[in-house]
Amino acid sequence: MTVAKKVLITGASGYLGRYAVQAFKDKGYYVRALVRNPDKIKTPGLHGEPAVFDIIDEIVIGDVTSPETLTGLCKGIDIVFCALGLTSPDARHTSYDVDYLGNKRILDQAIAEHVSRFIYVSVFNQDKMPGIPTIKSHELFVADLKTSGLSWAVIRPNGYFSDMGRFFSMAESGHIFMIGDGDKKINPVHGADLARVCVDAVDGDKREIPVGGPDIFTFKETMDLAFHACGKTPWITELPMWLAEGGLMITGLFNRNLADLLSFAVEALKFDHVAPAYGTRHLKDFFAELAAAKH
Ligand SMILES: NC(=O)c1ccc[n+]([C@@H]2O[C@H](COP(=O)([O-])OP(=O)(O)OC[C@H]3O[C@@H](n4cnc5c(N)ncnc54)[C@H](OP(=O)(O)O)[C@@H]3O)[C@@H](O)[C@H]2O)c1
Repeated sequence: MTVAKKVLITGASGYLGRYAVQAFKDKGYYVRALVRNPDKIKTPGLHGEPAVFDIIDEIVIGDVTSPETLTGLCKGIDIVFCALGLTSPDARHTSYDVDYLGNKRILDQAIAEHVSRFIYVSVFNQDKMPGIPTIKSHELFVADLKTSGLSWAVIRPNGYFSDMGRFFSMAESGHIFMIGDGDKKINPVHGADLARVCVDAVDGDKREIPVGGPDIFTFKETMDLAFHACGKTPWITELPMWLAEGGLMITGLFNRNLADLLSFAVEALKFDHVAPAYGTRHLKDFFAELAAAKH
């Protein structure tokens, strides 16, 4: 009888994390999941990501900013898959606290327990945005991972369908403020398609894996698609980049954490984000599913 390999999934309640739980289970892994609130994974997420409570083998309740909750997390684990991150403002913690120090705590345990592979989710185009706090923290961690002595892979997705879901929510309200002229391109990826790439990375030999989805759009085209899915006439107001950057500086005076997170969103609109294409799921269908769920 073959014994199932054990994977630890962090960020298992997030958009990518839930699809990763499903994808690792589909491949026959034993899944240990780190979550802060197990009730959250009893129902589907905001963007259709699955409820995974019933398919997880072992739930550990913990928070990476509280080291005492992480004791024994990697004991008996073969693979670590880290998809946790600070993606919305937190009054108490910065990206450095979560994306660097938090992930580092997991890495230290993985080293001590001699796990056989560590898969980490960072971002695409990191070299073009080195000063952005979220990117800095992710890449500080990547530097530690590379010198950890463990076998590793870094997944570099360009943008998730869940992020494009923000355009959908704005389109539903009838109006979108677009920063810049929206002409930069992106091929975002569905969480389920990305999760398959992440699971395949366990047995692959690639170390850095940039990932995008099957369709390339300008940011303006994704907004038009969102309006179309909600059955509304596109109403988009262009805000010049200098105004958005000025707004960020002012926000930073009052709320540093919020400004740090928003700086990623603003900076990202200055470049194309076209990454190697994976997967079969289309943004148009995703928006149609969001629209159907509302009615
Ligand atoms: N979204 C994108 O387009 C994109 C693109 C490239 C890379 N990434 C990176 O991919 C990763 C996953 O993104 P996502 O969109 O799936 O994020 P998400 O849906 O916001 O999920 C984040 C996950 O991290 C967990 N988490 C946050 N702080 C934590 C803490 N202190 N202790 C334990 N868990 C904590 C969250 O738990 P709770 O559910 O309890 O909040 C959640 O499970 C992130 O590192 C992100 O930077 C995202």
